Amino acid sequence: MDGGNCSVVSEFVFLGLSNLWGIQLLLFLFSSVFYMASVMGNLLIVFSVTADSNLHSPMYFLLANLSFLDLGVCSVAAPKMIYDLFRKHKAISFGGCIAQIFFIHAIGGTEMVLLMAMAFDRYLAICRPLHYLTIMSPQVCVIIPATAWILGLIHSVVQVAFIVHLPFCGPNVLNSFYCDLPQLIKLACTETNGLEFMVTANSGLISVGSFLVLVASYIFILVTVWKHSSAGLSKALSTLSAHVTVVVLFFGPLIFFYTWPFPSSNLDKFLALFDAILTPFLNPVIYSLRNKEMKVAMWKLCYQLLGYRKMP
Ligand SMILES: *[C@@H]1O[C@H](CO)[C@@H](O)[C@H](O)[C@H]1NC(C)=O
Repeated sequence: MDGGNCSVVSEFVFLGLSNLWGIQLLLFLFSSVFYMASVMGNLLIVFSVTADSNLHSPMYFLLANLSFLDLGVCSVAAPKMIYDLFRKHKAISFGGCIAQIFFIHAIGGTEMVLLMAMAFDRYLAICRPLHYLTIMSPQVCVIIPATAWILGLIHSVVQVAFIVHLPFCGPNVLNSFYCDLPQLIKLACTETNGLEFMVTANSGLISVGSFLVLVASYIFILVTVWKHSSAGLSKALSTLSAHVTVVVLFFGPLIFFYTWPFPSSNLDKFLALFDAILTPFLNPVIYSLRNKEMKVAMWKLCYQLLGYRKMP
């Protein structure tokens, strides 16, 4: 095989989620509703936090950054998936496929770092309240998202570097509705066991590792609170349960994709749909509905948008 005419694949074809008309219609309704709800919910959080000076604190800045990332998460794969649902030939160009992988990993990696920063923020606020504002200074609040983005980008560039030079010379059908590494690597016309191992090790270890760090840090916070006063425990529990829910929703499907050794494509696909559309929608719901200040800020913003000068 000479390298010159090896990379003949110029597009990949998705099998998509289903060929049955009824299911396609159901998926179309479900996905469009939740996609729009995700976009609006997260935009609302970003604008409320930016607009309301009561929310200019580290916790809310981090939350707004998380919502901004969620806008990205739900826009990488879902719009194309919705557009493709009723089409017979669901194709994506080689470049488009690499771009999806790049953004999925850049945004996903950044979000993991940000979730850890949010756990650290809660640790300081609950366990070291006197030092909170000195440690979470305005500079640190800018450094945290910047670091998250840099780490996310590095992770993503490394992942893409693994695959851009792979030869693709024939098979181009992906049993999925978006491009990601595990399935794409299997299509390369070369020995890929080593590479599959690298990908699982990289994405798998990073997701399992950060998940364990997060769970450990939340347990640590709870134990610290519990030792000091069991009265504080219920308050801490109610704050942290929102964070833990988001962490489990975010990492659960990821860990399954990258570490479960027996691929079952249908389960994979529906979990991916869940991760792409439902998780970004649930984040604003979980964080905001439980939070009085956030709700007030959202209503204020809505009234302002409707043209009132003050909340009636
Ligand atoms: C992200 O956080 C920084 C600093 O904490 C803040 O200035 C910025 O507005 C946040 N980004 C968004 C989109 O809210």
